[in-house]
Amino acid sequence: MSKFLKTIALALVAATLSGSAALANGDVDQGEKVFKKCKACHAVGEGAKNKIGPQLNDLFGRVAGSIDGFKYSKAMIAKGEEGTQWDQESLAAFLSKPKSFVKGTKMSFAGIKKQKDIDNLLAYLGTFSATGDTEPTTSETSDQTATTEPVEKAAPLKNAELPTHGTYHLGRMASEAEIAAWNHDVRPDGEGLPDGRGTVLQGEEVYVEYCASCHGDFGEGAGRWPVLAGGQGSLQNERPVKTIGSYWPYLSTVYDYVQRAMPFGQATVLSDDEVYAVTAYLLYLNDIVTDEEFELSNENFNSIEMPNAANFYADDRANEPQYNASAEPCMVDCKAGPVEITKRAQVLDVTPDQSN
Ligand code: HEC
Ligand code: HEC
Repeated sequence: MSKFLKTIALALVAATLSGSAALANGDVDQGEKVFKKCKACHAVGEGAKNKIGPQLNDLFGRVAGSIDGFKYSKAMIAKGEEGTQWDQESLAAFLSKPKSFVKGTKMSFAGIKKQKDIDNLLAYLGTFSATGDTEPTTSETSDQTATTEPVEKAAPLKNAELPTHGTYHLGRMASEAEIAAWNHDVRPDGEGLPDGRGTVLQGEEVYVEYCASCHGDFGEGAGRWPVLAGGQGSLQNERPVKTIGSYWPYLSTVYDYVQRAMPFGQATVLSDDEVYAVTAYLLYLNDIVTDEEFELSNENFNSIEMPNAANFYADDRANEPQYNASAEPCMVDCKAGPVEITKRAQVLDVTPDQSN
């Protein structure tokens, strides 16, 4: 046996000894009986899995809320982040009054009143814990005469008071302020635009500070970041360049997208006026406006016509004769005459060869 292994072996003996010393202060058999209160939700022992509550093997020394794959309440996770580890003291506090030790815990359990029951329970749980502090610190103060409170059962749903609103009667109504915070989409007709204004020149300053690092000085795109300008007239090409200017049908989408999502990673730092200004600058980069004094505002927003707008139209296939003619769509042998191949898929070879 190497020296290192011997040290570990000795440490294990020591741990086992101190473990059994701790167990002497609570009665493991009695503790097993107390654990019946927990069994519906918690498993211990070999192969114990998470149930309604997390498995409780190696509980002593465990950081609160730390079992992988178990969905704890925010409150329990926060408790662990604050530095709570499960030991004799913290467990005694939690198990006597779960909801006051971890405010907001989702463990629906009223608590154990009798200190002796807690000591016995922890002695029992200690037999499934290899490490950590199982030393009782509170058994001297135990009140042996108090009786165990009955376990609080969750109220059955049918007796619960249901909220009266909505279809499913869930949750609560969102407040006006909550709705306003989310409801800032801008529609193609300009509905939803905030009051504000900004010029091309002001927009250039915003753009240089917040956008050019990714989208390039002139919207050409730095590295592989998206291109924001150019591409007009390329939509019929084999490799169309789709940009705001060449492809997007509505300016409202630019405004909406920028105020919601850009600058990437720092969204919503821009004021409404700055978004108007940088939108004006993007129009300028795309030659949709040519005057650098041009000011975009909620008032003249709808006067801007995007070059590709006409190529977007509502799906009108339902009005076409072949869709309209028969009530039932044809599913079998629909084409009269022989089938011809008119086109073949093309190999584009856009993925570089691994070998070179
Ligand atoms: C009705 C189900 C239920 C019962 C009964 C119950 N628990 Fe829990 N227990 C939970 C749930 C759910 C959680 C997770 C709590 C959270 O995330 O806020 C939990 C968490 C715990 C934790 C924290 C574990 C960790 O990983 O941080 C301990 C310790 C614990 N319970 C012990 C017990 C003991 C001991 C009993 C019996 C006296 C008991 N519980 C009874 C459901 C239950
Ligand atoms: C850190 C890099 C970065 C910065 C800075 C940045 N963007 Fe972007 N931008 C992106 C990425 C990435 C996308 C594509 C996101 C996607 O498709 O999910 C994008 C997409 C866009 C698009 C849509 C382009 C298209 O054709 O789909 C617009 C418009 C845009 N950004 C405007 C701006 C403006 C205006 C600013 C400055 C206020 C800005 N961006 C700052 C990275 C950036």
